[in-house]
Amino acid sequence: MSTCPRTTAVPEAAEIKTIMRDERWNARHAKAYNRYRLLSSKGGWARLLARELAGLPAGTEVLEVGSGTGFISEILAGSGFNVWGMDLSPDMLAVARSNLEAAGLAGRARFTVGDAEALDAPDGQARAVVSRWVLWTLPRPRLALQEMVRVLAPGGKLVLIDGQHLPMGRLARIRAALVDMVVAGRLPGWRRPCYTRLTPGLPRLDAPAVVDILREAGLAGVSYRRLTAEESDGAVKSWLMGSGWQSYLVTGVKPQ
Ligand SMILES: C[S@@+](CC[C@H](N)C(=O)[O-])C[C@H]1O[C@@H](n2cnc3c(N)ncnc32)[C@H](O)[C@@H]1O
Repeated sequence: MSTCPRTTAVPEAAEIKTIMRDERWNARHAKAYNRYRLLSSKGGWARLLARELAGLPAGTEVLEVGSGTGFISEILAGSGFNVWGMDLSPDMLAVARSNLEAAGLAGRARFTVGDAEALDAPDGQARAVVSRWVLWTLPRPRLALQEMVRVLAPGGKLVLIDGQHLPMGRLARIRAALVDMVVAGRLPGWRRPCYTRLTPGLPRLDAPAVVDILREAGLAGVSYRRLTAEESDGAVKSWLMGSGWQSYLVTGVKPQ
């Protein structure tokens, strides 16, 4: 049953979250999203995380904000960290649990429902916070960034990956729609009923704006850079998806 109201008004944050949870990231789309792992380069992401979290001892708990179906959680757990994955969608988390179980890593991860804009975590305890591709889905990303800084322990590191949607040519759009049909089993236009209505309510920050907010929130050594296809999802996925997305990496450390 759709929760999409028939209105053209810019949606409020609470409404966006309901639609995100019940429509955009529900059980059907969790399953579809999970199938994209077939196209992702696990090695590329593993190398990137190993580099960014170098020096953090095995067994350290890493908080992953918006952990989705657990692609990154699985890499972190496989690298010896304990993972606390938090996500708004119980359906995404259910897939994450079964992925970690299948990988024999369930003992290294726990997953809880929560809101990135109001983290259910104490001040100053997290040794590392990781988040990939969550910020763009939030109505108030500034709050989420402030929350990530709040929960970091002194000396703790933030590894944030987000990105920007890029305009796509007609051919690229057709190719991406075909890939979505084959990989995820969705027909073109699946976004229309509900999800496209959210767009005006999502600020979708670029990397310099994220850097400014994190610095204001007290993070030190904040820097950003674009990720190449090789160090993120791999050139194949990037081509198949029509290059409609450019990921960036922002990192920083909470001062001691
Ligand atoms: C594009 S997916 C990324 C999932 C995962 N981080 C990954 O890299 O595969 C976006 C995720 O953000 C989650 N999300 C959306 N709004 C959220 C919120 N307010 N708090 C926490 N998670 C949220 C969605 O449920 C979804 O799992």
